[in-house]
Amino acid sequence: MKFPGHTFIVATDYETCAEFCDEKRFPKTIFALREMRHAMHDGLFTAIDGETEPNWGIAHRVLVPAFGPASLRNMYEGMYDMTSQLAMKWARFGKNSPITVADDMTRLTLDVIALCSMDFRFNSYYRTGTHPFVEAMSEFLVESGDRFRRLPVPAWFYRKADRKFFGNVDVMRNTASEILQERKNETSEQLSKRKDLLSAMLNGVDPKTGQKMTEESILDNLITFLIAGHETTAGTLSFAMYHIMKNPEIYRKVREEVDRVCGQETIRFEHLSKLPYINAVSCTAPKDHLFLVDDIEDSQRNPASDTTTPGIQCCA
Ligand code: HEM
Repeated sequence: MKFPGHTFIVATDYETCAEFCDEKRFPKTIFALREMRHAMHDGLFTAIDGETEPNWGIAHRVLVPAFGPASLRNMYEGMYDMTSQLAMKWARFGKNSPITVADDMTRLTLDVIALCSMDFRFNSYYRTGTHPFVEAMSEFLVESGDRFRRLPVPAWFYRKADRKFFGNVDVMRNTASEILQERKNETSEQLSKRKDLLSAMLNGVDPKTGQKMTEESILDNLITFLIAGHETTAGTLSFAMYHIMKNPEIYRKVREEVDRVCGQETIRFEHLSKLPYINAVSCTAPKDHLFLVDDIEDSQRNPASDTTTPGIQCCA
């Protein structure tokens, strides 16, 4: 695809995508994410690269253990809490009330991430509207895309949209900052019991540089987790639900697996690894198990130098 000043090569088959995922030849580019840096700066998702912006490497190395299996076990209680709220809501409305699955999945994933990463409750199932952070984040994401596509006209033309955009950035950063301050005011006994991503960021030391994450970098990444983590997971869950409901045979196998593994027990963390059929909806599943629910809209790469993949010439 050719646009003035840019040429895009779009890869849609498995083999070419796998080749483009070689980070040495095709490092990530933040082309379309640039506007989001107004809120997240060099956070994990929006950093240019680890060389230019060392905070990416520090945050990455500090946080890798916090996403390991032991940490996921600590997050399970929060996930169970929020999922139970959703199940209760759907059960209470009953079978005759229509359900807007995508909206409820968005509430679920935002609330899970906020609870598990920073012990903060948006309480989305107890509100008619949304938490001010969530509203600011939604508008910020839409406007980030619009700003990226702006026509080259004088800046004053967009001044109203700009005011709103930077107001939303302030709402998000102020909320994250309040959460951080509250945590820092806790007693050492309270802090010693914390096992979430925020405490990993506050206490973690980068094994390579010996540095800790700066407060600014912690704020950037608190916002990053909410933005990078909610839509992907909500989309995956919504599509999974759609395909399961559309395919009675798949629905039967899902139910059979839950009944066999969990029976009448409350579902526990230990059950999760024993549900291979249900786990197959995730994008890490073998190719032939995919239910077409992969929610990655695109991933943009730039060739590190001029290179050729079979049949395609890519220029840096
Ligand atoms: C089904 C769920 C998810 C999918 C499909 C997904 C997909 C992706 C993809 C494709 C990237 C790479 C983007 C690129 O470089 O082009 C990415 C990066 C990232 N994701 Fe996710 N994601 C999911 C869930 C989450 C969750 C739950 C979190 C956080 C709580 C998260 C946080 C991040 C972060 C921080 C990055 C940047 C990593 C880095 O460059 O160091 N994601 N994700």
